[in-house]
Amino acid sequence: MKRNEFFAVLGISAGALIYAPFLTSCSKSSTMDTPTPPAGGALDFTLDLSLPANSALNTNGGSLLKSGVIVARTSGGTYVAVASACTHQGTTVEFNSTSSQFHCPNHGSNFGTNGSVVNGPATTALKMYNVTLTGTSLRVYA
Ligand code: FES
Repeated sequence: MKRNEFFAVLGISAGALIYAPFLTSCSKSSTMDTPTPPAGGALDFTLDLSLPANSALNTNGGSLLKSGVIVARTSGGTYVAVASACTHQGTTVEFNSTSSQFHCPNHGSNFGTNGSVVNGPATTALKMYNVTLTGTSLRVYA
């Protein structure tokens, strides 16, 4: 079957295919989620520690990044959570399980588990979030 015959069977003329106002180009907007903490202290999420995705937090020294927050379990087994963006220039910090500090790989700032600056160049503490463990549910909130 030729293309014209196929469209004729469908009741569509070639002109209808050329004029197709319902067809739109790709949009420049994105629906991708941007993991940043909301302004105004509304951050509030819960991690189920029984799920494989959160298993890093079942070990002392483990950590994970979620919604712009680094959640870590210190060498002493305490859960802590701080904003992941370094206060110097915004690089995502990492939890160093050996030193039990948050480390910025960009310029070397270090922060204590309470977010305070251990050494710069950063001069401002990381925002700290509240953490509450109930069973296997770890709630992180402002
Ligand atoms: S961006 Fe973190 S120390 Fe510069």
